[in-house]
Amino acid sequence: MYKVAVLPGDGIGPEVVKEGLKVLRTLQAQHDLKFDFQELEINAERYLRTGKLLTDEDIEQLRGFDAIFLGAVGDDRVPPGVLEKGILLKARFTFDQYINHRPAQLWKPFGRLKREVDFKIDVYRENTEDFYIGAGGRIKEGACELTLDIERELYDLSIDIEANASNTDDYAFEIGIMSKKNIERFADYVIEQAKMVGEKRITVVDKANVLSHIYHLWREVWDEKGRQAGIEIQYMLVDAMSMALVKNPDKFRIVATPNMFGDILTDLLAEVTGGLGLAPGGNINPKGLSMYEPVHGSAPKYKGMNTINPTATILAAKMLVDNMGRRDLGSKIEDAVRRTFDKGIFTQDLGGRAKTNEFGDAVVAELRKM
Ligand code: NAD
Ligand code: IPM
Ligand code: MN
Repeated sequence: MYKVAVLPGDGIGPEVVKEGLKVLRTLQAQHDLKFDFQELEINAERYLRTGKLLTDEDIEQLRGFDAIFLGAVGDDRVPPGVLEKGILLKARFTFDQYINHRPAQLWKPFGRLKREVDFKIDVYRENTEDFYIGAGGRIKEGACELTLDIERELYDLSIDIEANASNTDDYAFEIGIMSKKNIERFADYVIEQAKMVGEKRITVVDKANVLSHIYHLWREVWDEKGRQAGIEIQYMLVDAMSMALVKNPDKFRIVATPNMFGDILTDLLAEVTGGLGLAPGGNINPKGLSMYEPVHGSAPKYKGMNTINPTATILAAKMLVDNMGRRDLGSKIEDAVRRTFDKGIFTQDLGGRAKTNEFGDAVVAELRKM
């Protein structure tokens, strides 16, 4: 029995999760696979009603599951950051999901580039540090004294800040932090994945020409790990990488990024493949609890319209199945999606007419034929 905590979340989250579950249930009916799905309300509605984000009780409860399947969080009635940091990032950090794997492949004929290029890129985004560490503050009227506490599975870190400015303006700051041990384990994981697919080169993204403290440490580790593993490390500055992913995505296969640049590049790359509605992701703790979700957010303006594309979430379900050790069944999901597209069934973001639930039904119908 594989216990899955289902967090539909906000906006279009519940609609896409419903289609993902349809697909997983179909697979269960056909194969020797047993899921126990339990839906939890950890979202904007509950926050507005009770003030609760991801609570200690939620965390205890979630520890009893084998995986988390998430829609998205984010709601216009709540200021930006509250749900995102209080639920999503808290889960990634608490469960030490230090890798965010976001595969991006061209979905013909939906690619947005003018010329035909075929590509499959696995982006691995560091997922617990960098400018997402959550250490920041305000310097009001030119002065402040405060302590920033950061808790991670690998360490607790406390930073004392004392600031005095020459003019009494208000200032704000956000500190980016990386630790050697975390970069090392992240690099080890990415190198292992590269080797598994027979790749000898990893493209490593950063902005070492400007943010040189944080990304020099990052490069030191990558240099060393690449040398030990006999893997070529190709560094790309993030600005040039944004250009290159649009110009020549077929030149890349395995890409490793710091947390913030990975967030931005994976939306860009999703669009190149055909749209955000196609891009899945997994927040991975190789030895612990992982969480699967689409790359996109809660797209509140489409909520309840039954028009958005559930493919990203269906492919996130595929990643969940892959990581259970059943890549054979994961591939079936991807094949069923491909066959559905080939029949001309797709949602309006791809130029089609299928409703969200109709697309899910069509994928299920294909699975049943396989
Ligand atoms: P978004 O990803 O929700 O949507 C941006 C646009 O992408 C949409 O307006 C739509 O045009 C398109 N899109 C997204 N998903 C689609 C789908 N399944 N099918 C078709 N088109 C799709 O980004 P946003 O509007 O900037 O953010 C909305 C909220 O979601 C914010 O509160 C944000 O913080 C949150 N967010 C949450 C997550 C998450 O939970 N993992 C991720 C990103 C954003
Ligand atoms: C994503 C989202 C999140 C991120 C936000 C909502 C915290 O944009 O999963 O890509 O920045 O990681
Ligand atoms: Mn994002």
